Amino acid sequence: MTHPPVCNYEGSDYQQSFWEQGGREYEDRAEAIALKRMLPKAGSLMLELGAGAGRNTPRYAGFERIVVLDYSTTQLAQAQERLGRSEKYIYVAADVYRLPFRDRLFDSATMIRVLHHMADAPKALAQVRNILQPGGVFILEFANKLNIKAILRYLLGRQAWSPFTLEPVEFVELNFDFHPKAVRQWLGSLGFSVEKTLTVSHFRLGLLKRLIPAKILAALDGLFQPTGALWQFTPSVFVKAKVDGDQSTGEIPVNVLQFFKCPDCGEKNLVEKESHLFCPNCQAKWQARDGIYDFRESIK
Ligand SMILES: C[S@@+](CC[C@H](N)C(=O)[O-])C[C@H]1O[C@@H](n2cnc3c(N)ncnc32)[C@H](O)[C@@H]1O
Repeated sequence: MTHPPVCNYEGSDYQQSFWEQGGREYEDRAEAIALKRMLPKAGSLMLELGAGAGRNTPRYAGFERIVVLDYSTTQLAQAQERLGRSEKYIYVAADVYRLPFRDRLFDSATMIRVLHHMADAPKALAQVRNILQPGGVFILEFANKLNIKAILRYLLGRQAWSPFTLEPVEFVELNFDFHPKAVRQWLGSLGFSVEKTLTVSHFRLGLLKRLIPAKILAALDGLFQPTGALWQFTPSVFVKAKVDGDQSTGEIPVNVLQFFKCPDCGEKNLVEKESHLFCPNCQAKWQARDGIYDFRESIK
């Protein structure tokens, strides 16, 4: 089966160059405010999709356990350094399009700055829907093609693509911006109900960021975020969606092994071996090394 291409962060210094030295304290703080407004106070098992170096993971502290998932093992190694190895964090290398989890396992999931890299966004969202329980919460951030800058550039003839049409725009290879209405439609057709929309990064302008301390600018952003319920013209949009149906009372397994299914054949009873998980159905072997379960390619 073919899958959409993955934007590869293996070996990338993204956390350092983009966040720590990239002058993005304002955006990070504004995201923290939005997440706080959307996250359930507590929960059992959270899946963080495309967690990168775990920048946001400490913000999910109210959850008993958190599966930190990324395609890149070097990003996961950085996340491990930040968060440590403990029962609370389970590190998984896997492709969003091919998740190695049993259906309806998680009570919450987040996907922040990741849809941005999805060539087939509805397919990625469908995978998230499968692993969430009824009543489960999904917090999704996406890059908005209908942002003020893109609208102005288009109206002034400086940009060929229209920000008003529903299809995604790929402005750099494997980097996509989405129309808020398209995202709502995809979520709705998958059985999610959008409960809250916040617009984030209203003041993403070099001059403002230089003049006003990040903390103050982020607080101001926080004041404007709820206008997302009315209109969305910021570069970043956060959506809180719930899976239709009553909150599940299903128990979360204590044993991590029972979280997984074989991403090749769907077999649920993987067998733990010394350095891998073995699928008794299709004989696939999934490496488990350095505290990371790796479900990208079978080592058979
Ligand atoms: C822009 S970074 C965001 C990281 C983190 N969410 C944050 O906001 O700091 C995008 C992350 O998505 C991961 N990613 C991209 N495509 C993926 C895929 N198909 N499956 C799993 N992870 C993916 C990348 O490895 C990268 O770590």
